[in-house]
Amino acid sequence: MSNPCTYVIFGATGNLSRLKLMPALYHLDVAGRLDERTMIVASGRRPWDQEFWVSQVKEWVQAKARGGLNDKAFERFAKRLHYFRGDLGEDQTYPDLRDLFANDDRLPNNIAFYMSVAPNEFGPVTKRLSSVGLLDETHGWRRVVIEKPFGYDLESAQALQSRLTRYLKEEQVYRIDHYLGKGTVQNVLVFRFANLVTEPLWNRNYIDHVQITHSEKLGVGGRAAYYDGAGALRDMIQSHLLQLLTLVAMEPPVSMDAEALRDEKVKVLKSVRPIPRSAVNSHAFRGQYTSGLVDGNKVPGYLDEGDVPEDSVTETYAAMKLFIDNWRWRGVPFYLRTGKRMASAQSTVSICFRYPPMQFFRDTAIEKMRQNWILLGIQPEESLRVEMTAKVPGLEMKTRQLSLDASYLREGESHTDAYEDLLLDVIEGDRSLFLRYDEVEAAWRVVDPVLSSWSQERDFIHTYPAGSWGPEESRRLFEKEYHQWRHTMVPDED
Ligand code: BG6
Repeated sequence: MSNPCTYVIFGATGNLSRLKLMPALYHLDVAGRLDERTMIVASGRRPWDQEFWVSQVKEWVQAKARGGLNDKAFERFAKRLHYFRGDLGEDQTYPDLRDLFANDDRLPNNIAFYMSVAPNEFGPVTKRLSSVGLLDETHGWRRVVIEKPFGYDLESAQALQSRLTRYLKEEQVYRIDHYLGKGTVQNVLVFRFANLVTEPLWNRNYIDHVQITHSEKLGVGGRAAYYDGAGALRDMIQSHLLQLLTLVAMEPPVSMDAEALRDEKVKVLKSVRPIPRSAVNSHAFRGQYTSGLVDGNKVPGYLDEGDVPEDSVTETYAAMKLFIDNWRWRGVPFYLRTGKRMASAQSTVSICFRYPPMQFFRDTAIEKMRQNWILLGIQPEESLRVEMTAKVPGLEMKTRQLSLDASYLREGESHTDAYEDLLLDVIEGDRSLFLRYDEVEAAWRVVDPVLSSWSQERDFIHTYPAGSWGPEESRRLFEKEYHQWRHTMVPDED
């Protein structure tokens, strides 16, 4: 059971709260993980009253509740809800919020502020919370959860950080990357460090290359106002995919303690070979979707989505080749790739092993061996696949691929949403799955040369039809002729 606390959600009437935060808090309550005194203060601009707020939350939770909404459980959950009307841009909101805490003794004094607001509000809201004493920890802890993006590039991240440190200690800041809350992402660590068979192979002597892919079928939908200023490289690679890369590549930490874990992740990011300006084109690729078919339905191209300027060169597809210049990984390419409106929606880490020495098969019908792969499926299914070569039954020496496939979930088990883990970690003060500032800064350093080059080359972008696997030309990133994008867990020829 966690400490009693008050979760204050800024931007509580928005999408994140509807789709993720409220359902996650409800599920934590159902699982008995919230102290009975814990309260949730929803702060929003809309003129809603308490009754309306509860009915809204009920609808949102109903849409997401695993196994359907339990009315009794919701009734109990509803007692934790409190609607606070306030415009974060108005000075008066902050003394009002302070008074709410002073006058309502149902609200515990440990407070987690969740910033589900526009990134340009992180700094000003923190400043104003501090000015009314709400970040002062004399009578309980105060934590601030910050959604991504943390900055827009290296420089703005540094500026935001120096602003926040005026009012907050690093221990009070929880920079969230929801990818780290996903069960299978955490499983990358367990898979690597709790199994002896893989660790001796997990290095440049045996691994040919690594691919990390996150593809989506959805387009930008109603988010173009944010997305057009961000693009796929900032939106997915700087954050989620680089985080995955650190888990795949890091050295075993001395313990699972937050600092030990984050020290190792930072070391990986700092070892990424910087991309010189002159080599951006051979290390990074961008594309934008045009109209096409997704699941048999015609969908518009990016430029025809609402709120997208007609001459936009924002990338909806981005791929990168990175090298980690350390003892373990020197020379092994890591390919990172993400895109909207792709052929399928999935996240996978694919580890491709080197070709075995061929001598043994010299005088047989085998011309070329296939490589071994280990695939870690993150979504939609949490799964593991290992591909190996075996002999085809019969008189001849012929081989084919066999695979060992396993789903992480057993019958009757269901997985929790990433936000459940993370919201609970905030209450418990566990920062291992949150980003330390030096990690964020190191991640910006990796992508910054590409961002700055792309921001200047604004006259051309490759395109790909919606529903495809992205532009063919992205092959130019490959280090070796035989490298191919690994699109699916199960290859087509199986
Ligand atoms: C978000 C990005 O951080 O992650 C979105 O802003 C993206 O553009 C999303 O769609 C993907 O996460 P998930 O958990 O939905 O696969």
